[in-house]
Amino acid sequence: MNYGPLLFLGILFTLASSWVGLVLMPNRQLGALTANTSTNDTGVVVVYPQPRHGEAQQGAEHYRSLGCVYCHSQQVRPEGFGSDIERGWGRRRTVSRDYLYDKPVMLGTSRTGPDLTNIGERQSSHDWHYSHLYNPQITSKGSVMPPYPFLFEKRRVPASGPSSDALKLSGEFAVEDGWEVVPRPQARQLVEYLRSLKTTVDLPEAPLPKAAAVEE
Ligand code: HEC
Repeated sequence: MNYGPLLFLGILFTLASSWVGLVLMPNRQLGALTANTSTNDTGVVVVYPQPRHGEAQQGAEHYRSLGCVYCHSQQVRPEGFGSDIERGWGRRRTVSRDYLYDKPVMLGTSRTGPDLTNIGERQSSHDWHYSHLYNPQITSKGSVMPPYPFLFEKRRVPASGPSSDALKLSGEFAVEDGWEVVPRPQARQLVEYLRSLKTTVDLPEAPLPKAAAVEE
């Protein structure tokens, strides 16, 4: 008996159903996602998310090339699916729309360090990030995060005086008198990227928790 047509139909069905499941359905669910426009409490129209520009976008490339994603995730699970929100990693869960302009999306799978979805809100200080990247032991004693000293330049203090963004190093990390450690452009860009990581805007599918109602 000739099984050719049956075989053909079987293969066609398998390929077609996987195309429907893996391409068509996800595209119908998410393909038309756009930025959300809302009005905040002070009457200002907020469009979220926004594409990253300039330094922050360049910083995203350093985040990728330095392998930060191997130890840090960027995905906050909803309440009831882990303790991400209780740990303070985000005020709300993350949803597909948060990643609209991320290419590639750096979700991460391993959490040797904290989730960084909302690090821009949690830690906005340039100085803190520079010291931490230069040597995590300065800000977080005992950290297993590797230092990234090559993102900084050790140089003689210029005749015009010390740079305003020179690291404030003391104790065992201090440099000799007349020298300073300043961030290279890569460090500046990386920190701008970290500071841009924020999920502080309400989305219809992931509202921020409202301030607890005052009990009568
Ligand atoms: C080997 C794993 C590892 C790698 C790689 C790594 N980190 Fe970390 N990171 C950690 C750990 C552990 C902590 C928590 C202790 C600390 O603050 O140093 C941390 C903390 C942080 C924090 C502070 C988070 C908070 O909630 O306070 C930031 C920001 C951060 N890392 C950024 C980066 C960046 C940027 C890179 C890449 C250049 C990177 N990390 C690479 C392990 C890692």
